[in-house]
Amino acid sequence: MKLGVFDSGIGGLTVVKSLLSHNLFEEIVYFGDTARVPYGIKDKNTIVRYAIEAVEFFKNFELDLIIVACNTVSAYALEEMRENSTCPIIGVVDSGVLATVNALSEKNSNILILGTKATINSKAYEIGLHALGYKNLQTKATGLFVPIVEEEIYNGEILQAAFRHYFKEIEVPHAIILGCTHFPLISQEIQKYFGKDTLLIHSGDAIVEYLEREFSFPKRYKNPELKFFASENPEALRNVAKKWLNLV
Ligand code: DGL
Repeated sequence: MKLGVFDSGIGGLTVVKSLLSHNLFEEIVYFGDTARVPYGIKDKNTIVRYAIEAVEFFKNFELDLIIVACNTVSAYALEEMRENSTCPIIGVVDSGVLATVNALSEKNSNILILGTKATINSKAYEIGLHALGYKNLQTKATGLFVPIVEEEIYNGEILQAAFRHYFKEIEVPHAIILGCTHFPLISQEIQKYFGKDTLLIHSGDAIVEYLEREFSFPKRYKNPELKFFASENPEALRNVAKKWLNLV
């Protein structure tokens, strides 16, 4: 099994991290569109165009599956990507919803959904969760977290200022969906801000369960080959990947 993983930048590495512990793939080809990140402030046409270009890039690798490890692209461009692809493509919003169902049996739980402006405007999570009976939802677009994470700022005053800016009127929820794959990189600080009683959920949490439900994996691969590509400064992406995925 050869897998492609696509994100606008480094955020999709949080999904790769979840995948690596399960040895499902022989090879993982990661592509981050670092020259054009962030996607979350762009309109649907632009997001779709960039996403189709990523599909074209992946055609160089004879992949068996592509995971769109970006909620923004998953919310807007999956259909168009599939029309242009020779292999199946899955997104992370469905697995984020699955992770929420797994973590929260109480349907009245107050859930705060965080994401980029585009993801929040798409209402992708709200639609998925409403259909399953979760009605007590708040949403907040927190797009500034994306460039902060791309700058490798994972704590400190700039992040705290962004928290104060976005969260000052938010009531403390039972759970927070990290509806952007960049956000798990600052999850420790989000947890500290809201306190330990708030449960944090991210789409990578259920990605393996989701994959095993949708596809069959007859073989396991102990040491998958990892290839990292970026539309700008691939070396920087590889360095972050090494750090984040504990690669030697
Ligand atoms: N990591 C992305 C997401 O999950 C995209 C962030 C962005 O490019 O704005 O939405």
